[in-house]
Amino acid sequence: MKTLNETAFHLPVLLRQVAEFLLTDVDGTYIDFTVGGGGHSKLICEKLGKSGRLIGCDRDAEALVQARSVLSDRVRLVQSRFSDIRGALKEIAAGTVTGILMDLGVSSHHLDDPSRGFSHRTAGALDLRMDQSTGEKAAELLARLSLPDLTDLITMYGEDPQARRIARAIVKEREQSPLATTEALAKVITKSVPATANKSLARVFQALRIAVNDELGELEKGLEAGWDLLKPQGRLAVISYHSLEDRIVKNFMREKAAPTSAAFEPFPTEHIATGRIISRKPITPDEEEIERNPRARSAKLRVIEKLG
Ligand SMILES: C[S@@+](CC[C@H](N)C(=O)[O-])C[C@H]1O[C@@H](n2cnc3c(N)ncnc32)[C@H](O)[C@@H]1O
Repeated sequence: MKTLNETAFHLPVLLRQVAEFLLTDVDGTYIDFTVGGGGHSKLICEKLGKSGRLIGCDRDAEALVQARSVLSDRVRLVQSRFSDIRGALKEIAAGTVTGILMDLGVSSHHLDDPSRGFSHRTAGALDLRMDQSTGEKAAELLARLSLPDLTDLITMYGEDPQARRIARAIVKEREQSPLATTEALAKVITKSVPATANKSLARVFQALRIAVNDELGELEKGLEAGWDLLKPQGRLAVISYHSLEDRIVKNFMREKAAPTSAAFEPFPTEHIATGRIISRKPITPDEEEIERNPRARSAKLRVIEKLG
């Protein structure tokens, strides 16, 4: 794969804020679970001291090629998805990591490369897998799902009020010919809901992306894996880009930070909070960043510190 300059592949979001909140010890061990084009990792690496260590992970092989081209050799790169990360980093003992970054979703490269099928704006095969070596493509999913399941998928992951109408149109169209390309799917959506086509296009493509990559299941597993790896006073920083992701991150952090008691037991036991939320409110990009990088507009950074 031809590598691009860093900003053409992906412009890192909330870069300064990530470094500020994540780096508590320049000689610590850090893991970037979503190294992507290497933007955040590059800055983290530049700030590390002599004994500092950084590992970058991503499930996408193309991202790792790009990251290798911009990161120094001291950064180790590993292909892994969140749910396999504990196995992939076996040598990293639980409770030893200083900071973990999860910058969720896709990179600009995914959206800009027509062959990946992530964008309804460019013509390409309906793939949408972040790791193209495994799993079901979006075209295969669309061909397989029943009408009720397709409606549920567009409702749950796309939050589109016209999900049923769109799902019906997809099912009708695929009886004539399989929906194998972004253009074919975009045409069906536009025809079925012409008045709100732009919103629905974005929502259906988001729904397919979430389903194909099991993004929400992966996120839940990634948060738990990350928490397990962190040492006391270690920090987990997560950037989310839509409400479905953010709800999972917010609830996870609240649960870790909440001292609750088990009310139904005969002798209520105190549950001691295991974390301290560092960002009471999510950290969001300022106007200047949004103007420079419109894709940053929905970003929310949340940070939690492990107690111990
Ligand atoms: C927003 S981009 C990260 C960009 C990066 N921070 C940078 O500065 O270039 C998100 C990256 O996370 C990866 N990713 C998303 N879900 C993943 C998962 N479950 N496991 C591993 N990588 C994942 C994607 O392949 C993508 O490269």
